[in-house]
Amino acid sequence: MESLVFKVGAWLAVAIAAIAAAALAQDAGYALHMLIICGAALITAGVIASRSEIPVLGRLISHPANVSDRYYDDVIRWGVVATVFWSVVAFLAGVFIAAQLTFPLLNLDYSFTTFGRLRPLHTSAAIFAFGGNALIASSFYVVQRTCRVRLAFPALARFVFWGYQLFIVLAATGYLMGVTNSREYAEPEWYVDIWLTIVWVAYFIVFVGTIVRRHEPHIYVANWFYLAFIIAIAMLHIVNNLAIPVSIFGSKSYSAFAGVQDALTQWWYGHNAVAFFLTVPFLAMMYYFVPKQAERPIYSYRLSILHFWSLIFLYIWAGPHHLHYTALPDWAQTLGMVFSIMLWMPSWGGMINGLMTLQGAWDKIRTDPIIRMMVFAIAFYGMATFEGPLMSIKTVNSLSHYTDWTIGHVHSGVLGWNGMITFAAVYYMTPRLWGRERMYSLRMINWHFWLATLGIVLYASSMWVAGIMQGLMWREYGEDGYLVYAFAEVVAAMKPYYTIRMLGGMLYLAGGAVMVYNIWMTIAGRLREEAPLSDAAYDPASDRPVQPVAAE
Ligand code: HEM
Ligand code: HEM
Repeated sequence: MESLVFKVGAWLAVAIAAIAAAALAQDAGYALHMLIICGAALITAGVIASRSEIPVLGRLISHPANVSDRYYDDVIRWGVVATVFWSVVAFLAGVFIAAQLTFPLLNLDYSFTTFGRLRPLHTSAAIFAFGGNALIASSFYVVQRTCRVRLAFPALARFVFWGYQLFIVLAATGYLMGVTNSREYAEPEWYVDIWLTIVWVAYFIVFVGTIVRRHEPHIYVANWFYLAFIIAIAMLHIVNNLAIPVSIFGSKSYSAFAGVQDALTQWWYGHNAVAFFLTVPFLAMMYYFVPKQAERPIYSYRLSILHFWSLIFLYIWAGPHHLHYTALPDWAQTLGMVFSIMLWMPSWGGMINGLMTLQGAWDKIRTDPIIRMMVFAIAFYGMATFEGPLMSIKTVNSLSHYTDWTIGHVHSGVLGWNGMITFAAVYYMTPRLWGRERMYSLRMINWHFWLATLGIVLYASSMWVAGIMQGLMWREYGEDGYLVYAFAEVVAAMKPYYTIRMLGGMLYLAGGAVMVYNIWMTIAGRLREEAPLSDAAYDPASDRPVQPVAAE
């Protein structure tokens, strides 16, 4: 009881401090953020206080199956729902900004709805809200099952989940109001960064605590990938965001870095956000969910270890390929290029390891729609990691940089690799988390697959053509030595491609809508009557931690 009073009191104190900060705020964005924090603290205090008395709230916090001989899955269930929710938000924002580039009138002449504010909303919603929730949920799922132990510190895990959602809301509302430090993929201002650091440290403690308590002697390779993600992101986030606020009651801050050091720090972060957020932990998903769904062991465990160490050693040096032909010293640019080219090897080693896991079960690509998504994802991982090293070669980059080729590369990676492997993992986890026989409809997973595939094909091919055309038009000189095309002419030439990209985005979004319906119906406990497709077997009896045995 005393600890309850203490917890409620602490959250009320946070709420009061936030109100005081809102009253002293120097700008509207900061004031609104403090009010949001106050609201979040009040809700938390209310939930803690009423936990024992209001059964409905109690059930929201704790699932009936939350007993100690089962894995702690509440927070993973919320994570799956959050992943699906944020995926739709991110795809909608993507389609809207794609439409804005096609029809600039859609900027609506209103500061909140301009492309400049909605673009970071899209990138952060996609990477951090959709991707981040999928990673937190899947890492908690995987670490328990591979360590055969319940999640350490469940209360802290709940804090990680809700703290992370608060971070997303603060970041998103900040972008709409123009509160940004303008560092790509790290736009939130200083106080939001501090909050994320606290949440991330809690995440580290829960993850490592679970590994330390494991019943398996061996730490499965997927956990290595997740751990590298958690540690590297902490390091990148803290260094890149070192800044001095103008006032503790205002949102504005100035970076600790300036000039070319600033550029290098930003792209050391930016590239490694791609590496340690969009690649390494999604490979952890691959290493766990592909063997599970294929019901085959991983092709080569030895290769996975080689893959891990070479990938993390090489990735961290490749950032300068984002700064070719800038004030960055030439040797640093060349270093970035060389490490990027070397990255091709471990990346393809990983791809081969994932694909070859299907050895002897290739027919599943035809019969199992989840496997089909996984294979597609791994193939796109291979494509993006072939294209990336190619684009990092300075002469190639002199054509591709600033063009839509980069956007094509990005989206073949994120839609093909991150999107598809996440959908597959969500489809794997959902029936198991809610104790259902299978997904509501396996056929709908197939529809999702084809809608998303068509969307990616339209998106990536249009951007590749647009990008290369853009680059070639910009550098076209006439016999008189003048540029042949004015910038506006190149912009006009892009219109058909932007329209195709928008249509591709709509198809991808439509696939997302099918997923929402399928997940919703699965959670509701419904099964669609349909011609059967194959799926991995599930044995609920063995999906539990190792129980301690009393000594004789
Ligand atoms: C319906 C699907 C999507 C559509 C229509 C879409 C559309 C767009 C558009 C129009 C841009 C701005 C391009 C420009 O500035 O020229 C963009 C940028 C970006 N999007 Fe998406 N997107 C989608 C899904 C995603 C997903 C799922 C992710 C990540 C998981 C993602 C990550 C990014 C990133 C990182 C950028 C910035 C690229 C750069 O600066 O080079 N997008 N997207
Ligand atoms: C071996 C692996 C890879 C290498 C060497 C690589 C290399 C590159 C290069 C050279 C650029 C263009 C830089 C510029 O001209 O500004 C780029 C941009 C980008 N790549 Fe990759 N890439 C790789 C894999 C991936 C993967 C798998 C993803 C996504 C899952 C990805 C996401 C991105 C993003 C988001 C950008 C845009 C950054 C920005 O300008 O905002 N890359 N990459």
